[in-house]
Amino acid sequence: MFDDPQSPAWTPLLNAAWKARDHAHAPYSRFQVGAALLTSSGAVFGGCNVENAAYPVCLCAERGALSAAVAAGLRPGGLVAAVVVTDVAELTPPCGACRQALVEFAKELPVLLANRQVRQLHRLENLLPHSFTSEQFR
Ligand code: THU
Repeated sequence: MFDDPQSPAWTPLLNAAWKARDHAHAPYSRFQVGAALLTSSGAVFGGCNVENAAYPVCLCAERGALSAAVAAGLRPGGLVAAVVVTDVAELTPPCGACRQALVEFAKELPVLLANRQVRQLHRLENLLPHSFTSEQFR
């Protein structure tokens, strides 16, 4: 299902990501990003980037979606799939901080990158190999 980038299973996530992207607050970069996360409860959570006049305060779409999912009860192991959408030719992979934030909840998360024409599927373990987790100090 989520190992096929063309599977219809991605549709609710893509819809949620595009919808969230419409609400992006990106007046500085003018680069609007949407993300969506599916949890094992079947819920889909959208997120968009939220920029700030104090640039380091900017929040990425992926971590916005993650925050919404956690607030609704997501716990480690409960993430099923993720989508990141932008409206540019070059697909947008999650930044390093977002990869680290996501790996806390699912090491092998399928991550679909998409624009209006193209889809590209990755696994988080390949986007963030040798990741730091709590196993290092537990
Ligand atoms: N951004 C995201 O929201 N997600 C990504 O995966 C990459 C970058 C945002 C942060 C900032 O608001 C804008 O894109 C330009 O870096």
